[in-house]
Amino acid sequence: MQLHTAMTPEASTVEPLPIRRIHHIELYVGNAKQASYFYRRAFGFELIGFAGPESGVRETASYVLRQNKVTLVVTAPVFSDHPITEWLVKHGDGVRDIAFEVDDAEFCYRKALERGARGVYEPRVLEDEHGKVTIAAIATYGDVIHSFVERDAYAGPFLPPYKPTPPDPIARPVGFRHIDHVVGNVGWNQMAEHVAFYNRVFGFQRFVSFDDKDISTEYSALRSTVVANENKWIKFPINEPAEGKRRSQIEEFVLYNNGPGVQHIALECENIIETVRLLRANGVELLSTPSTYYDMLEHRVGTIDEDLAALRELNILVDRDDKGYMLQIFTKPVQDRPTLFYELIQRKGAESFGKGNFKALFEAIEREQALRGNL
Ligand code: FE2
Repeated sequence: MQLHTAMTPEASTVEPLPIRRIHHIELYVGNAKQASYFYRRAFGFELIGFAGPESGVRETASYVLRQNKVTLVVTAPVFSDHPITEWLVKHGDGVRDIAFEVDDAEFCYRKALERGARGVYEPRVLEDEHGKVTIAAIATYGDVIHSFVERDAYAGPFLPPYKPTPPDPIARPVGFRHIDHVVGNVGWNQMAEHVAFYNRVFGFQRFVSFDDKDISTEYSALRSTVVANENKWIKFPINEPAEGKRRSQIEEFVLYNNGPGVQHIALECENIIETVRLLRANGVELLSTPSTYYDMLEHRVGTIDEDLAALRELNILVDRDDKGYMLQIFTKPVQDRPTLFYELIQRKGAESFGKGNFKALFEAIEREQALRGNL
C-alpha cells in the first residue's frame, strides 16, 4: 500500500502568476454542430456565440456554450489536413484548453516560459467591434494547453472573432454554477512532475484535504494530488495509476486517450437533487450506485439535510470531511471512448473531492457480491 505523503512536493517559493479564474474550457470534437446540441439539450447550456465558415472563419467551427459562470467551447476542424484533425485522430473528443483569465497575458506567458513551461503560441492581439483581447498559450500534460486570456479592453460576450448568436430556443439551465475542479490523468509515476510543474510555473500549492489522509489506493488503484491557486478557486487534481485490487481506471484512460488528458470536469450545482432530476429527464447517462451503498450512508456520514430516499433514488453519493459534507455524482463518458466525463457536485462545507466514496462504493459492491453468495 502506498501513501500519498511520499509525493509531497517542495513548498513553492515562486510568486504566483496573476490568474483570476478559469475563463473557459475548449473541447476538440469530431462534430461541433452535434456536440453543441448535446450540451444545450442534455446539459442545458445556452449557445451564445459561433465562429466558423459562415462567420468568416474558414478552417474550424466553434460554438460557445454558457451556464452561469461555466463557459465551454466546442471546436471541430472542417478540413482533413487541419492540425485539430490530427489531435482528434490521436485522442478522440476531449479537452484541449483550460483557459485562464489573467491581468496580463504577455507577462504570464513570459514568466511561464522563464519558469520552464513550453510555449504553444506567442501573445497575439485579437480585435473586433467590441474591443481587443490579448491571448497566449502554454502546454501542460499530454496535448492539453492553458491559454492566458487578457480581456479588460473587451466588451463582447466572449472573444473575437466569435459572433453572438440569437437567444437559444432549446437551452434549459439545470443549475450549474461554476467549475469546481478539473482533473488531469497522467501515466505511471508522472504525477509528481506535473504537480511540480503547477508549483513551479504557476505558484499553485498542494491543496491539502481530507482525501490525503485516506489510504484509498487499495480500492481506487490511483494516486491523486490536488494543486490549487492562492484563493482556491482553481483546483486541479492530478491522478496517476497505482497497483490495486483491480486494473487502474487511470491506466485505462491513458490507453484510450492515447496519453495524458482531462479525465473529468466537476460542475458545482446549487441543488444537486434538482440538477440530477433534470439531467436524467434529459437522458444524461449517470453512473449507478449499488443500493447497499445507501444502507451504510447515515452511519458513514451522519445527519445530512437531504432526503435519503431521494439520494437513493437518484444514485447521488455523499462524503464527509472535517469541514462538512458534499454530494456528488458522475456521468458516464460523454463520447464513445471511455475518456472525458463530468462530475456534478454540491458542497456543504466539505473541501474534499469524495475519496471516501471509493472505499464505500467498493464495499457496497462487495456486499452485493456477498448477497449473491460470490464472496
Ligand atoms: Fe472530481
